[in-house]
Amino acid sequence: DREGLSVDEADMGADLEKVLIPEVELQAKIRELAAQVDEDYAGRELLLVGVLKGAVMVMADLARALHSPVSMDWMAVSSYGSGTKSSGVVRIMKDLDADIMGRHVLIVEDIVDSGLTLSWLMSNLESRGPASIEVCTLLRKPDAAKIKVKVKYVGFDIPNEFVIGYGLDYAERYRNLPFVGTLAPHVYGGSGEQEA
Ligand code: XMP
Ligand code: MG
Repeated sequence: DREGLSVDEADMGADLEKVLIPEVELQAKIRELAAQVDEDYAGRELLLVGVLKGAVMVMADLARALHSPVSMDWMAVSSYGSGTKSSGVVRIMKDLDADIMGRHVLIVEDIVDSGLTLSWLMSNLESRGPASIEVCTLLRKPDAAKIKVKVKYVGFDIPNEFVIGYGLDYAERYRNLPFVGTLAPHVYGGSGEQEA
């Protein structure tokens, strides 16, 4: 029953297939990941590197759930692909402000799908001489297993469906949803460049 919803809410409801991970579960998982990170990095100063734009929500919530002192920096990368698959050909749209030489870096990601973007990002950042580099991703899809990239912190392993919400977009929409959901097939499709 969509009566009583505004036009925008009705649109959003129609575009959404189902809620995959409700807000409470996301927040509980973020607190769990933060506790693990706190424990692992005790006594070491951490630089969180968020990958724009998808990781904005994870970064904001994870950073606030951490007790250890951290710095935050951002990168924006874009990978060319056909359809919704990335190719691993990555372009830096915005580089880090910080010099990561000798720093303990934790890459914060919304999702690892093929893992190609992350694998490229890891070797790029590794070449800059950090003291350590690890990855924290909220979501991971099955294809990620095919590529050899070590992801230390994983929130949820999800099925191979296109997901939206909590930073994840379809054509720049739905990033503001407080939960992760799947998109109804009638909205799905598209091709070309995929921005993180
Ligand atoms: P991979 O790991 O394949 O992922 O290099 C590259 C980027 O693709 C995006 N991606 C998604 N975005 N829903 C989204 O909104 C999804 O289901 C999805 N799967 C992949 C994401 O930006 C990732 O960094
Ligand atoms: Mg995206």
